[in-house]
Amino acid sequence: MKYNFNERIDRENTSCIKYDLRDEVFGKKDVIPMWVADMDFKTPSFIIEALRKRLDHEIMGYTFRTDSFYTSIAGWLSRRHKWDVMKEWITFSPGIVPALNLAVMAFTRPGDKVIVQQPVYFPFFPAVENHNRVLVNNPLSYENGRYEMDFEDLLRKIDKRVKMIMLCSPHNPTGNVWKYRDLEKLAEICIENQILILSDEIHSDLIFRGSKHIPLASLGPEVSDITVTCVSPSKAFNLAGLSTSAVITSNRELKKKYDEMLESVHVDGGNIFGFVALEAAYDKGEEWLDALMGYLEENLNFLVSYLAENIPLIKPVIPEATYLIWLDCHEMGLSDKELSRFMIHEAGLGLSDGLIFGPEGSGFQRMNIGCPRAVLENALHRLKNAVVQRFAQ
Ligand SMILES: Cc1ncc(COP(=O)(O)O)c(C=O)c1O
Repeated sequence: MKYNFNERIDRENTSCIKYDLRDEVFGKKDVIPMWVADMDFKTPSFIIEALRKRLDHEIMGYTFRTDSFYTSIAGWLSRRHKWDVMKEWITFSPGIVPALNLAVMAFTRPGDKVIVQQPVYFPFFPAVENHNRVLVNNPLSYENGRYEMDFEDLLRKIDKRVKMIMLCSPHNPTGNVWKYRDLEKLAEICIENQILILSDEIHSDLIFRGSKHIPLASLGPEVSDITVTCVSPSKAFNLAGLSTSAVITSNRELKKKYDEMLESVHVDGGNIFGFVALEAAYDKGEEWLDALMGYLEENLNFLVSYLAENIPLIKPVIPEATYLIWLDCHEMGLSDKELSRFMIHEAGLGLSDGLIFGPEGSGFQRMNIGCPRAVLENALHRLKNAVVQRFAQ
């Protein structure tokens, strides 16, 4: 194996949220941390080398984004996702969550409605509500272990005050990769009702074999004109601590509004290491990313067979993307409080409670399998033992 994803790296005492905040979050220091969405794998060497080279210059003064920042992003999107974007469409954000907040502030007014599709990545909620906009839920439907968009419900929820929909594509926590027909239908509804789509595509590089991510804005000029897309190498290349993302729109007016908001709070500068890492990831990352996805697929297969054979009470929703697995725990018959307690104190696992993703997440837990196989094996053994103990009688 050219890349050693089995290597176990001690992340303790590195200001690492996932490991070093376990006591604060779970009240238990020794849970196996499978919550925050970063991976326990080393950042690939071509990124480390690029960062080291920049560090060797030994001056870290003010910087700006050169052409190469934009061409790296455009090159990656064209090669990996068949989406051709122009340099002028791309701008910056110090992270995707900041971009969601800035976009809400830039494109909507207090009192406007913003639609989200729960269960969904929970920072979507404050990105709307902290700015006095109204959160409207268009829940995904869940049948036979599969999530779908509910367009009938969406149409019922739309009125003149709805100005934006926040799309999670691919979708966290369900792992859905939206199909062409989903995106086309959504776009058609939004065009007809003059609703802007904020498309969070942070997970778009973590696609399992057999699925294909379609950037929403690549559907055509009419769709592109109402879409603002957020991308970043942070998930796929494990760079979240560098706070560097891109916001893309072909609509000049929207870009201008976003840039004005970005500059008004003075966070357009970014940081030099983020730029260097992004360029290295996008210029050199394809082979490593393919290897990563191969490893994650094996982790996923291991998890799915293990649960089926040993813990059939817990059913994974099979993801088409991401290393975040949405576990349906309804058959355990526990309340959400009991389920959370069970995972922490009986199984010794630090997972994400389903409820934080919205009421539709009741009865679910989200497990991060972006870790060496041995860690996953250990976690599943712990889970099996705890389930046997509790449900034996
Ligand atoms: C859908 C989604 N958007 C955004 C983020 C975080 O983005 P950032 O760390 O760039 O703010 C995550 C992290 O898990 C995510 O799942």
